[in-house]
Amino acid sequence: MRKPRTAAAAAVLTSTAMLLVAGCAGTTPGGGGNADGRGPFTLAMGKDTTGKLKSKVLDVWNKRHPNEKVTLIELPESADEQRTAMVQNFQAKSDRFDAVAMDVIWTSEFAARGWVQKLDADALPIADLLPAATATAKYKGQLYGAPFASAGALLFYRKDLVSKPPTTWKELTADCAVAKRQQMDCYAGQFAQYEGLTVNASEAINSAGGAVYGPDGQVTVDSPEAKKGIDFLVDGFRKGYIPKKAITYKEEDGRRAFQKGDLLFLRNWPYVYGLANTKGSDTKVAGKVGVAPLPGANGTGASTLGGANLGLSSYSKHKKSVLDFMAFVESPEVQRVEVQDLTNAPVLTELYKDKALAKQFPFLPALHQSLLNARPRPQVPAYNDASLHIQREIYKALQGEKSTSQALKDLADQLKQSESR
Ligand code: GLC
Repeated sequence: MRKPRTAAAAAVLTSTAMLLVAGCAGTTPGGGGNADGRGPFTLAMGKDTTGKLKSKVLDVWNKRHPNEKVTLIELPESADEQRTAMVQNFQAKSDRFDAVAMDVIWTSEFAARGWVQKLDADALPIADLLPAATATAKYKGQLYGAPFASAGALLFYRKDLVSKPPTTWKELTADCAVAKRQQMDCYAGQFAQYEGLTVNASEAINSAGGAVYGPDGQVTVDSPEAKKGIDFLVDGFRKGYIPKKAITYKEEDGRRAFQKGDLLFLRNWPYVYGLANTKGSDTKVAGKVGVAPLPGANGTGASTLGGANLGLSSYSKHKKSVLDFMAFVESPEVQRVEVQDLTNAPVLTELYKDKALAKQFPFLPALHQSLLNARPRPQVPAYNDASLHIQREIYKALQGEKSTSQALKDLADQLKQSESR
């Protein structure tokens, strides 16, 4: 596993990459299709949970481009299953997916395998985007994805029950007395064995001052800090401040429990706010949803950086249409929809400074803070293998099948081994 990028290195790479690819035509040659091809195309991505991506973004595009309509192909909810669908499609050299919403961790793998096309950074408003989001769209300094939505973790809480959100794990567990009185569960995140568990485990480790990988890419997961972080989750299951059923939770399971009024605290991505807090939608907690940065061992915790970048399939026959669509999704018009309708984290920096938006969406400052402190996952082609190791070992610790120390030791051995292969 090579060195994960730091924000500073990413910023340098951003400007270097702009110089490198400036002046290229829309895409590099390679794969099937033709860079100038226009026509209808598909967008493969996870579920449109709000339905608003279709009504507020895709339908708008389709009205304006009747001969280049985009059709959404919804993939399963879990990030891992989305990746599998995309990988199978690319391996078959199929043109069924023209544009793919790539999780921020897939850029290197898809680019290294030649599945997605190198993009012309000049055709996109890169300088106006969050540098951390742009860094996730690059491989070897070159742009392979159009940042579409960023994502930082938030702590959703019931502001009708808790007056001040917890900033430490100690405060959070103390607040669980409130949940008990209300006969609710206290805390949940994503603990099923999939990418979401890697995210939650990394956040717990980082929020206790540890790291899965050190600054030079060395494996550092077998540390007292990492143990402290994972023990917050292990103890949660053992002592009951995390409900047993949360061992099967992915994003949507936790959201549903929170919306039903069954959970006091939920770690999740920003999209939950719009769904859980809006009257008229299927929620019992509208108007009662507070949002705060994640708590940590000794103060505010550290989120893992999430989000999606649009990739252009090398096998697409309508690449020019997809490239135009990429510029469209990064326009202020669509990025505003990201906030107002999807309550996603926009990639356009200016929207975090918009006072009217912040008034309407009080989660924006907490979200910005979460994104500024967010830690990227390693951006290397072999990321998926590393993540599978993390998921497997941490899941065993959460289930009490292994002690935290043993799981972290075994994990460190596996990560080192896969690195030397
Ligand atoms: C969200 C994030 C993504 C992450 C996934 C984990 O989709 O945007 O980056 O990998 O959740 O479940």
